[in-house]
Amino acid sequence: MKEKINISMPSLKEAKLRRNLDVSIVRYKIEDKYKTLGLNKTYYIFTYGCQGNEADSEIMAGILEGVGYKKSTDPMNSDVVLLNTCAIRENAEQRIWGVLGQLKGRKREHPDMIVGICGCMPQEENATKKIIESYDVDIIFGTHNRHHLPELISKAYESKAKVVEVLSNEGLILEDAPKVRESKHKAWVNIMFGCDEFCTYCIVPYTRGRERSRQKDDIINEVKDLVKNGYKEITLLGQNVNAYGKDLGTDYTFGDLLYDLDKTGIERIRYTTSHPRDLDLKTMEAMRDCKSVMPHLHLPVQSGDNDILKIMNRKYTYEQYMSKINKLRELVPDISITTDIIVGFPNETEEQFQNTLKLVEEAKFEGAFTFIYSKREGTPAAKMPDSITEEEKHDRLNRLIEKTNEGYLRGHQRFVGKVVPILVDSESKNGEGMLCGYSPNLKLTHFKSNDKSLIGKIVNVKITEAKTWFMIGDLVED
Ligand code: SAH
Ligand code: SF4
Ligand code: F3S
Repeated sequence: MKEKINISMPSLKEAKLRRNLDVSIVRYKIEDKYKTLGLNKTYYIFTYGCQGNEADSEIMAGILEGVGYKKSTDPMNSDVVLLNTCAIRENAEQRIWGVLGQLKGRKREHPDMIVGICGCMPQEENATKKIIESYDVDIIFGTHNRHHLPELISKAYESKAKVVEVLSNEGLILEDAPKVRESKHKAWVNIMFGCDEFCTYCIVPYTRGRERSRQKDDIINEVKDLVKNGYKEITLLGQNVNAYGKDLGTDYTFGDLLYDLDKTGIERIRYTTSHPRDLDLKTMEAMRDCKSVMPHLHLPVQSGDNDILKIMNRKYTYEQYMSKINKLRELVPDISITTDIIVGFPNETEEQFQNTLKLVEEAKFEGAFTFIYSKREGTPAAKMPDSITEEEKHDRLNRLIEKTNEGYLRGHQRFVGKVVPILVDSESKNGEGMLCGYSPNLKLTHFKSNDKSLIGKIVNVKITEAKTWFMIGDLVED
């Protein structure tokens, strides 16, 4: 096995503690000695997992381009290949082992290629051990070390050893990092990092560290810059955006931030993810009052059974969840609500599952991400005995999907005959001469047009047809 430079290794036990209460803000600056590190070289980044990872990949691309690397379209022929990984469920990890296997062969032919693995998987001890032992990877770093990327690559070039740097229980906030954004009209804007909720099934609080909010001025300035550069839509990111500001020791909350961002002139504001317990009246009022805050809320419920919710440590009941969304519907009648649901949590009974189906019916969701519970080592739920068979879990998932699909269709049908503003994203894969984009309620919409100059603009489309996964309409010329 290759020699190893072990700067630091992950520890799930350490990541559970919330000892480090001082949040340091690190303002990124490229050291002179790394400025030409990537000259005449290329990079490719594979991104898995949530929007948090997508935003991180844009930062890593920015850092790499800042030291001279150029973006490649072919991972197998790049000088640096990074895998920005996700650890949320076992199948997320399976995909990554597959790609690592493919790169192994390629690296044999091109020993100078640098393969790096980063994101949430390296934060787990066992995953990191397996990567070190079984794969030819040059650098392994976690979610708190992205700004060390030039240094880590340079160490790997110098020594040809495996460089491992994974910090646990970290509290830093990275500011001023360069970004190469994927889109010219839609942008991710991190407002906070980490999670302190510790839902008993979830690995995120261990992989992303403690909850920490960016300073409001840093966020507002970033959005003002985006407006100046022609961006139309921002999505505010955090694992629990409703907890924004709690750690800053002021009474400025997420609702206040929405009101302030509405004044920047950005046309569309979205945000994800919300936690039902922390969703407050001020946020709902901001959704009602701020023209730029879009009428869509993703509010993961996870289960409709109060006992399961309790064991999941979600800190709300069926009734409290329903009362929040009913209040929101009173304030924003046109809103679309989507959710996340887990089936097959350890020992979930058929009756408990029926309560989830009942809630889905009552809540009138217009979409849901549905998952079979996946055991994550180090989390409390991983120790719970589980009596449900795989077959039962799949059967529940299928029954749930049947119900949630009805919601998707209903959510599209209600717009048939209406004219809706669509932010045009790209050419449509749905047919020649078509474009597609999203409505305020986050409904994917396809319409006929050959005019590619509309990409990045907001246009009016009259909806003519509703399908389960999208709507079809006609462009309304002014
Ligand atoms: N912070 C967000 C999103 C977390 S991850 C939130 O709290 O809603 C996205 C979704 O993955 C979760 O909402 C949950 O439904 C699902 N998930 C998380 N851990 C899981 C696990 N161990 N097994 C199956 N699904 C899981
Ligand atoms: Fe995971 Fe719960 Fe935090 Fe969401 S709120 S990231 S589900 S621990
Ligand atoms: Fe996955 Fe990490 Fe996001 S585990 S869902 S990439 S926070």
